[in-house]
Amino acid sequence: MLISKRISKINVSPTMKVAGEAKEMLARGESVIDLSVGETDFPTPPNVKEAAKRAIDNNQTRYTLNPGTVELRNAIAAKLKRENGLDYSIKEIIVSNGAKQSLYNAIQSLVYVDDEVIFSSPYWVSYPEMVTLAHGQSVIIPTTEENGFKITPEQLKKAITPYTKILILCNPSNPTGSCYTRKELEEIADIVLQHKFYVISDEIYEKLVYDNFKLVSFPSLGNEIKKRTILVNGLSKSYAMTGWRIGYAAGPEEIISAINKLQSHSTSNASSISQAAGVEAFNGPQDYIENLKNEFQTRRDYLYNELTTMDGINCYKPQGAFYLFPKISTFFNKKTDKILIKNSTDFAMYLLQEAKVATVPGSAFGAEGYIRLSYATSKENLQQAVERIREAISKLK
Ligand SMILES: Cc1ncc(COP(=O)(O)O)c(C=O)c1O
Repeated sequence: MLISKRISKINVSPTMKVAGEAKEMLARGESVIDLSVGETDFPTPPNVKEAAKRAIDNNQTRYTLNPGTVELRNAIAAKLKRENGLDYSIKEIIVSNGAKQSLYNAIQSLVYVDDEVIFSSPYWVSYPEMVTLAHGQSVIIPTTEENGFKITPEQLKKAITPYTKILILCNPSNPTGSCYTRKELEEIADIVLQHKFYVISDEIYEKLVYDNFKLVSFPSLGNEIKKRTILVNGLSKSYAMTGWRIGYAAGPEEIISAINKLQSHSTSNASSISQAAGVEAFNGPQDYIENLKNEFQTRRDYLYNELTTMDGINCYKPQGAFYLFPKISTFFNKKTDKILIKNSTDFAMYLLQEAKVATVPGSAFGAEGYIRLSYATSKENLQQAVERIREAISKLK
């Protein structure tokens, strides 16, 4: 067997089918509107770009300390204190190549054979695969629109076994955009403390919350829960810096040291230039984020209002991230003379071929019957996409 058992166990994401087709159509010169991406169309803030240019000119182009420069970890510690009321020393913080690596490293450092990792569906596509790569078992709690796509205390209690090691919370959530309230998080924290497992809190969309929603960082709920939490965050989404690859994990020193060990034998430090840019992102002016957020709120409202007036589409109104996750199962078994829609992949494929709008089928997130649309694209693109979707679905009988 050429490919290892470990890699053979993970799947190619079902998003690939639609995304691959969209790329081919674009290459053929077709005007595809891409609502499938997980990144903003905004440029990185100019002061951050300048900081990176200065870092190059100042020859900050060498290896840094494996867990990140002292300057960047100090800037992260200051951010956590200022914005979240959290006290972390720099030994409790590690910088990595995007939040994705922080999550991967955290799971590798904590999970092994027999360990169970609880998370909800719809889930971010990488959680189950990361758990499989660590030889752990995913325990998936299905959530519904009625519960705002959030785990209830009863569901969580039922999912706990003697093997439960980690709960992953994605707050705000990709793909649903839902956000837990303080009260909901407190109820979860009580259960975690009672049953003594750990939490990985993925807060990468922290700053993208709307309607004055107050997002509470999970470890800020109290000292005891902080000792059981690995907080993961980064610059990708909030500072329009997906390509710079800066994420971080903050947590108990013992866990961060384990992650440090793993990272020292894989990628070593994140890019020295991106780290210098990161210092400016955290310490420089923050008004850019407010503008980004206001723009996203306008786009969310626009897309939500349009989708909910379309026959057959039902949509939850999320408080965070930059996705809508409408239910489209009413179109199952509908057809045109060319196709029959059997599932969310068929529906996404139909939108791509008929409307030339790329979306992601819900099955990619463990939630059949839905699709994910990103509104991190221009208003003009959204307007065109809406017209095209409306027309395409009117043809389904
Ligand atoms: C929920 C969630 N967590 C983590 C990440 C990883 O972000 P990055 O590696 O770009 O920092 C993403 C990116 O799509 C995400 O949606």
